[in-house]
Amino acid sequence: MNWSVVILAAGVGKRMRSSIPKSLHQVAGKPMLTHVIDAVRKSSDGEVTVVVRPDQIESPDFRSAVGKGTKLVGQENQLGTADALSAASELALGSDRVLVLYADTPLIEPETVANLIQASEPAEVAIAFVTADPPPVGGLGRIVRDSNGTVARIVEEADADGSTLAITEVNSGWYAFSGEFLRKNLANIQPAPNGELYLTDLIEVAIDADCNIVTVPAKSPIEIIGVNTREQLALAEAELQARYRKHWMSNGVTLVDPATTYFGPDVEIEMDVVVHPNTHIRGNSVLREGCEVGPNSIVDSSEIGQSSEFVSSYADHAQVGANCEVGPFSRLRPGAVLSDDVHIGNYAEIKESNIGSGTKIGHFSYVGDSTIGANVNIGAGTVFVNYDGSKKNHTTVGDDVFIGSGSMLVAPLEIGDGALTGAGAVVTKNVEPGTTVFGVPARKQAGSGSSDRTSERS
Ligand code: UD1
Ligand code: CA
Repeated sequence: MNWSVVILAAGVGKRMRSSIPKSLHQVAGKPMLTHVIDAVRKSSDGEVTVVVRPDQIESPDFRSAVGKGTKLVGQENQLGTADALSAASELALGSDRVLVLYADTPLIEPETVANLIQASEPAEVAIAFVTADPPPVGGLGRIVRDSNGTVARIVEEADADGSTLAITEVNSGWYAFSGEFLRKNLANIQPAPNGELYLTDLIEVAIDADCNIVTVPAKSPIEIIGVNTREQLALAEAELQARYRKHWMSNGVTLVDPATTYFGPDVEIEMDVVVHPNTHIRGNSVLREGCEVGPNSIVDSSEIGQSSEFVSSYADHAQVGANCEVGPFSRLRPGAVLSDDVHIGNYAEIKESNIGSGTKIGHFSYVGDSTIGANVNIGAGTVFVNYDGSKKNHTTVGDDVFIGSGSMLVAPLEIGDGALTGAGAVVTKNVEPGTTVFGVPARKQAGSGSSDRTSERS
C-alpha cells in the first residue's frame, strides 16, 4: 500500500495576532510544523507535502522548517481545511492512503501516527482519525456518535448547539483517508454556514455512503492540542517541556529543579548528568555521562564532556572535553573546542579555538581564532588580537607556554613550546620555543631560549 502525507499549514492564524505564519511559531525552539513533520517521519516513509500560501512556497523560513525531501504546495485562497487538502491533490491524492495532519499540533507523537496508520489499513476503512476525551483546550470539533456509539459526524464548536457543545470527545485533526474515497468525495464538500469548506464534513459524507470509519484514541488528550492562540502556544511549550523532563529523569538524569530546566527536542543526555536550575539545553547538544550543567546556563548545539562542570555559562556550537571546568560567567562561541582537563574560569570568551588538555584560562580573557597546546597557562586579561580591521588572523600557541597577565597576542602569531610572555607584553612577532619576551612591543629577554634562534630580535 502506498502512502502520502499532507500537512495543512496555509491557515491565516488570525488568533495569534502575528506577522509570523502560525505554523512557524516555535515550541521547544522548533517550528510547530517541524514537530509535526518529525513525528510523521518517524512512523511513515510516505512522501510529505505541506500546504502553504502560494507566496510562502519560496520562503526560506518555510523551506528550512520543512527540511529536505518535503514538497510545498500553494493554496490560493484560504477557504478551509477541505480546500487546503484539495490544493495538494495532484501531488498527494493519487496514493492508496493519505495521511492528513494539521500543522498547529506540535505535541503529536510518532506512536499515535503509527496507530492511525495501522487502524486505517483494512481495505474497507475509508477514514481513520484520532480523537481525545476530554478536550485539552476549547474550540475543538465535537465527535457526534449515534446510539450504538458509531461516529455520525464532527460538529465545529462555532456551529454546535447546547447538547453538542456538551460532548467531551473532540477531533485532533489527524486523519488517514483511503485515497479512492478522497478522490471521489473531496470536491463535493459544501460550504459550512461561515462559507468555509470543512474537511471534517467528510465524516458525514462517508456515513451517508455507508463507508467504514474508525477512531483512534490519542495517547493522552493533551497530545492533540491545536495551537490557535499565544496562550495555547505557551500551554504546548509547558507540556512539551514536562514530557522532556520526565523522559530525561527516567533515563538517569538528575534535574535539581525540573520546573526551571528546559530542553530542545534533539538533545542527548547520558546517565548521571546533573542539570541545575534555570538551565537551557538546546539544539543538538550532548551532555556526556556524569557532567554537571548550571545553574543559570545555556548549552546550545554543544557537547559537554564526561564529568565536566559547566557553571553559569553559555556554550554555542562549542565542544567541551572530559573533566573540564567552565565558569562561572564564561562564553564559548562557535568553534570553541576544549580538550580534556581544561579549566576556563570566569569572564572568558572563546571562539574558533582548539584548547589543548590541561590548559588553564582562569580569568577574564578573549581567545579567538587560535590553536593552543597542552598545559598552557593564559594569564588574566590576555587578549588574542585576532582582527586587524579587515580580516581575522590565527594564533598558534605551543605546549607548556605561560602567557603573562595582560598580554596582547597580535595575530598572525606563533608562540613556541615552553615560551613565556611577560605581564603586559604586546607580542607582535613569533616567539621561539623556550624563550621569554616582554615589553611593548615585546622583545626577547637576553639569555632566554637557545642562542641560535634569532627570529625574535626586533
Ligand atoms: C480544526 C478542525 C477541528 C479540530 C481542530 C484540531 C476543521 C474544520 N476543524 O479546527 O475539528 O478539532 O482543527 O486542532 O478542520 N488550514 C489551511 N487552509 C485553510 C484553513 C486551515 O491550510 O484554508 C490549516 C491551518 O493552517 C491549520 C489547520 O489547517 O494548520 C487547521 O486549521 P484551523 O483554522 O487551525 O482549524 P481549527 O479551527 O483549529
Ligand atoms: Ca487549529
